Amino acid sequence: MVLLLMAPWASAAVRRSDFPASFLFGTATSSYQIEGAYLEGNKSLSNWDVFTHVSGRIKDGSTADIADDHYHRFQDDIELMHSLGTNAYRFSISWARILPKGRFGKVNPAGINFYNELIDSLLLKGIEPFVTLNHYDIPQEVEDGYGAWLSAEIQLDFGHFADLCFAAFGDRVKYWATFNEPNVVVRKGYMLGTYPPQRCSPPYGTCARGDSGVEPYVVNHNIVLAHATAVEIYKRKYQSKQKGMIGTVVSTTWYEPLTDSQEDRLATERVLAFDVPWFLDPIIYGDYPPEMRQLLGSRLPSFSPEERRKLGYKLDFIGINHYTTLFVRDCMFSSGCPLRQETHQAQAAVTGERNGLPIGPPTPMPTFYVVPDGIKNIVTYVMKRYNNLPMFITENGFAQGGDGYAHVDDWLDDQGRIQYLDAYLTKLAEAIRDGADVRGYFIWSLIDNFEWLYGYTLRFGLHYVDYQTQERKPKSSALWYKRFLQSLHEAQ
Ligand code: NOJ
Repeated sequence: MVLLLMAPWASAAVRRSDFPASFLFGTATSSYQIEGAYLEGNKSLSNWDVFTHVSGRIKDGSTADIADDHYHRFQDDIELMHSLGTNAYRFSISWARILPKGRFGKVNPAGINFYNELIDSLLLKGIEPFVTLNHYDIPQEVEDGYGAWLSAEIQLDFGHFADLCFAAFGDRVKYWATFNEPNVVVRKGYMLGTYPPQRCSPPYGTCARGDSGVEPYVVNHNIVLAHATAVEIYKRKYQSKQKGMIGTVVSTTWYEPLTDSQEDRLATERVLAFDVPWFLDPIIYGDYPPEMRQLLGSRLPSFSPEERRKLGYKLDFIGINHYTTLFVRDCMFSSGCPLRQETHQAQAAVTGERNGLPIGPPTPMPTFYVVPDGIKNIVTYVMKRYNNLPMFITENGFAQGGDGYAHVDDWLDDQGRIQYLDAYLTKLAEAIRDGADVRGYFIWSLIDNFEWLYGYTLRFGLHYVDYQTQERKPKSSALWYKRFLQSLHEAQ
């Protein structure tokens, strides 16, 4: 168990009234990680179904074939949200449930029904659906057919899928995010080769498939334009009637220079620009970040006049997934730099330690440290770079795992998570007081679930899930969140 009682920020006690009354407070999940029922209701295989079925890829050898069985238990899960007192819920739609072939063709009524029931039941409980159109999982047919994100063809197919979702659910869904963490899809799927389709781009990673280094840029380009296609459809066909907002969700890490040398400070700027603005600059300003152009030149694709026109439809909010802060060391001017491969392109190395000391208390998730200031720093960075476009913290949370969990009670008593959430929320409230237009916050996650390469070995839930019986039990953090949400009505 991770106890962080001695941490200097442990005394913070954030209150609901530190946030605007209209603020959305929720929990977040994603289709592949919780739904299960992987072959039910005419769903086809997704890239993650296929990936996890090959042994040796997931730490505990697991798949999400059943996961939390949310497909059958969503009503119970809505009860959990209701008992927390949350007013919003972020989930994603499985593309392979709606369009089993992935492309233009037959829409699957069972898939539409499932999400209709989920959305209606949420609304009955006063919980606002906050929907991600794509959270890593895509129909395998799209991968096999034309190489998914490597091909420009996917832009229209994703647009078609988005169009169907707006038409089917947009009368009730007022918050749409096109993608979850496209920067992670690019990095892990096409640079490091650890996520499907396991392609590598030297020098970032080496594996059987991949190319000489341009694939990540092509993939990011196609995701940018797939996003733009969906946004154009929403803005032209639906927004004036449905009156919702459309945005996207990026993975964010805050970075600090390892030393206060000029080189490390510049390297930190580069790493930041190569992470979030690689995706956000084109969709907000119409082109890739100057910091990237300078280093990469023509390896970065350009936008045609037609593509620029498409990028003219602006998004309404930025979703920020944030967990940790890391140090950056310059590798442009220093020799012998121990590059962590994913930042090689920015000629910098990232690390969680300085002189053998971690940047903050480590957590069971490798590379995730507890650094509450990071959430304030990243929100301020995004606010400044994008003129205070509305923001939502679409994920923030704490993993349990590793040694020290002999009994269920060890999982239920999650003091480390409570301290983490309290401290991060305290810093978020400060950023808002300083002027950041943040409109909501979602804890990852409502329930323990399938944590990608870590399978079920890491647990992020406010509720414990017994994977034998599918029973859910509130952890201490669930009660803490409930009390926090209630504190609005208490006397100060
Ligand atoms: C990011 C991802 O969006 C989510 O799927 C994942 O489970 C959490 N962060 C925790 O790693």
